[in-house]
Amino acid sequence: MRSMARVHILPLDVEIEAPAEATLMAAAQALGYYWPTTCGGEARCTTCACEVLDGMASLTPMGRAEERALVTERGRRVLQTPLRLACQARLRDAGGRVEVRKPGVRPPLA
Ligand code: FES
Repeated sequence: MRSMARVHILPLDVEIEAPAEATLMAAAQALGYYWPTTCGGEARCTTCACEVLDGMASLTPMGRAEERALVTERGRRVLQTPLRLACQARLRDAGGRVEVRKPGVRPPLA
């Protein structure tokens, strides 16, 4: 069995399992969660941005596309905050645990 990383999503207060290499947004979407997005995951809108409360080291480092989108949409100061684009930040390895805050994430429809 493939081991999974864990993502705790606030304020919804759910913990999901996610395969390594998945983006935060894709991992949640794969389980049926709604994650706010406007550009559909192309690192342009920053609607998907979430605050990483814990486990930043379990995510891949910020790449150029993510940095460019965040700075363009929210200003350079955003780089001093724990904000990451959920459509770009990937879980670095199975076994990691990340806690994020993203208002607007909704559970799968029953
Ligand atoms: S979904 Fe648009 S930047 Fe992530």
